[in-house]
Amino acid sequence: MNAKFITLDGIDGAGKSTNLAVMQNWFEQRRLPVLFTREPGGTPLGEALREILLNPATRAGLRSETLMMFAARCQHIEEVIAPALARGVHVVSDRFTDATFAYQGGGRGVPAADIATLEHWVQGGLQPDLTILLDVPLEVSMARIAETREKDRFEQETADFFTRVREAYLQRAAAAPERYALIDSNRERAAVSLSIEHALDTLFA
Ligand SMILES: Nc1ncnc2c1ncn2[C@@H]1O[C@H](COP(=O)(O)OP(=O)(O)O)[C@@H](O)[C@H]1O
Ligand SMILES: [Mg+2]
Repeated sequence: MNAKFITLDGIDGAGKSTNLAVMQNWFEQRRLPVLFTREPGGTPLGEALREILLNPATRAGLRSETLMMFAARCQHIEEVIAPALARGVHVVSDRFTDATFAYQGGGRGVPAADIATLEHWVQGGLQPDLTILLDVPLEVSMARIAETREKDRFEQETADFFTRVREAYLQRAAAAPERYALIDSNRERAAVSLSIEHALDTLFA
């Protein structure tokens, strides 16, 4: 069986980090080799760029921001993702290129065609086999974040920004439904877990 590349995406507070544990259990129970990673990050260079990108003190224009995201992604693919897949290890990434289309594209207004150009340059033909998109209304995600953490540079953005980000995610999922598992994350944790497990069952069936 070819190793699978799975990404987990959605707006801040949608429950990505929470549900990584669910996915970890799913792979453990089946004794399937898997590597969990995240974007921006996943390599020393990527994690350094993550610090810069999430730091509220950073000033970056929309193109610089987009290029840093892809610089981190490029290193991540070359150093971690592609080698793991090549040796038969499944890869799960907390965020991937959908986030760039959603945040830098939908949120900041970078033309999707420009992002697609970078996507092609950096990824070649590499695309996720499955993207689990956790969807939640803005009020819910904002309330979840407000309760639990200091907001990073993106999380400090306006409600309008996040409305555009969420919309961009949903549009991408609607345009390629075969790649996405669109999951309503505005439910009890157990219900969300079940949907995620079902999406994995389907991918590996
Ligand atoms: N289904 C859920 N119901 C209620 N709270 C949740 C649910 N899923 C996650 N949370 C909480 O919401 C907050 C944001 O979740 P997190 O997993 O950090 O989101 P993300 O990684 O997508 O930003 C956390 O405090 C988490 O415990
Ligand atoms: Mg998270």
